[in-house]
Amino acid sequence: MTAHSERTVGELAARSLAATRVFEDHGIDFCCGGAKPFDEACREKRLDPASVLLEIESAIAKEAAASQRTDWNMAPFETLIDHIVTRHHSYLREELPRLASWIAAVRRAHGERDGVLLEQLDAAFTAMKDELDQHIRKEEVVLFPAILRSEGWIAQPIAMMEHEHDSAGRALDELRRLTGNYQQPAHACATYRALYAGLAALEADLHLHIHLENNILFPRAKAETSRSRGC
Ligand SMILES: [Fe+2]
Ligand SMILES: [Fe+2]
Repeated sequence: MTAHSERTVGELAARSLAATRVFEDHGIDFCCGGAKPFDEACREKRLDPASVLLEIESAIAKEAAASQRTDWNMAPFETLIDHIVTRHHSYLREELPRLASWIAAVRRAHGERDGVLLEQLDAAFTAMKDELDQHIRKEEVVLFPAILRSEGWIAQPIAMMEHEHDSAGRALDELRRLTGNYQQPAHACATYRALYAGLAALEADLHLHIHLENNILFPRAKAETSRSRGC
């Protein structure tokens, strides 16, 4: 087994989707918290780094055996960016308005009983939605085309996008806290249940989306720019 004590969570997560699933299972933040050393992240969750590593290695082996997946560390930028936009940005464009309408419906139906919770949930979600709507537009209109053209000025917009990812990460944490880890109340109606399930799914998709950008696309783009400028 390779010694991973010096590696960060993000570097391990970049190795494969399987690693991100192991982190997700243990509640280890691999996107916004990706810069943290792996051992430290495990100890914070009272986990033995060696056994988590074993889980990751076995998940990676299973994944490799199961299918030939795209290695995003090797894929051309066009392919990776196309995947991010068609898979993850499209997901947000569909899901964010749908979840907003469900929050409104649940507030109408359960406002009397869960008024304070639903008001806080609505406020946290709406702020996150507004930020994400603008965020993905900035990536598509400004940053991704600049990466594809190997422009030399991408470091600053990348830093801004990473900052916005941190903000989205905090919003997801707040939504999870408000909903008690998406525990549905006993009186939840079908829309209430769908809302909580939808928010949990959004969290998982956004974690993966931010991971692909923070841990793979952005470091690769910065390395490519430095190379082409001869730094
Ligand atoms: Fe994105
Ligand atoms: Fe992003």
